Amino acid sequence: MLGAGALAGAVLLAACSSGSSPDAGHSRSPAVAPLRESASRRGLRFGAAVTSDLLAKDSQYRHTLATEYNAVTPENAMKWDAIHPARDRYDFGPADAIVNFARAHHMAVRGHNLVWYREVPSWVTDHHWTRRELEQILHDHIRTVVRHYRGKVAQWDVVNEAVDKDGKLRDSIWSKVIGPTYIELAFRWAHEEDPSAKLYYNDYDIESPGPKASAVTKLVRGLRARGVPIDGVGIQGHEVASHPPSPHQFESALRTYAAMGLDVAVTEADVALSLPANEHERQVQAAIYDHMLRACLAVSRCRTFVTWGLTDRSSWVPAANPGTGDALPFDRDYHPKPALGALRTVLARARH
Ligand code: XIL
Repeated sequence: MLGAGALAGAVLLAACSSGSSPDAGHSRSPAVAPLRESASRRGLRFGAAVTSDLLAKDSQYRHTLATEYNAVTPENAMKWDAIHPARDRYDFGPADAIVNFARAHHMAVRGHNLVWYREVPSWVTDHHWTRRELEQILHDHIRTVVRHYRGKVAQWDVVNEAVDKDGKLRDSIWSKVIGPTYIELAFRWAHEEDPSAKLYYNDYDIESPGPKASAVTKLVRGLRARGVPIDGVGIQGHEVASHPPSPHQFESALRTYAAMGLDVAVTEADVALSLPANEHERQVQAAIYDHMLRACLAVSRCRTFVTWGLTDRSSWVPAANPGTGDALPFDRDYHPKPALGALRTVLARARH
């Protein structure tokens, strides 16, 4: 939708096509092409959510990331409480470290996120703002963060999880004080600061039909109709192996947004297993990753696929859902799991 889309596309293609120079000292099996190579050939941003801590202290993490992926999403470092902990203080350090790593290794960056109901610091939430004041605060935040990363972040999750499971606008300080227009204001303000960044609405549980999926479709259609600068919809893709999404529904959800003229992305894929997981469950997990990636590749407007982490050593799943985990393509020792093999096979088979 944006006139500047061509520029963003060029930046992304450049980011995706180059090789990497990961840390020395690790060898890889010559027989298996890293995912990154086949993803880049296919024009796919294949990313992982990353933390600046692991990036700083774990060379195997850096190596795996730069070898297998051509894109990153800061898992937490760009969230409001991390990047803007006090009204007059921004802490860009950890997010900058991730962005600098990405640039050094020719990887694209998805910015996550500008407005969310969670991980908002108490200086914002514990105060009675007028509507005007909170708009000002939101505008300052978006302006400062997007400007800081202008030209370096290819895609932004501008608004994250604004709709609840019943399809209602989620209760948050933003919806309560500013009202539903906070969503379009956020997109407009982000676009003003970086017209070439692709701007996304991002949410979970929208891959199967239901009140939430319908409400998000309606929300996005309304934004498009009002000329709000939205470029894409992110389907997070947090799945549970015991209740996998239907491959058909997953693909048709992607097509719903593509049919509106929007890009679509799988932004936070992981597949939780019950612990301890056995080999059969790892195979089931591989099949679910396979379906998700195939659905994305089947839709021409889906050219971004991000896993929410890369190794089972570091994943939000066990904390979010105790008793489950092992949700990612690499195990705790960075050994490829069947899921990684499935992703590699899908990409190797994909037509160029
Ligand atoms: C999660 C992170 O992975 C955790 O480390 C953090 O404690 C909480 O947030 N949907 C999102 C992500 O959009 O930002 C969330 O990330 C996972 C669910």
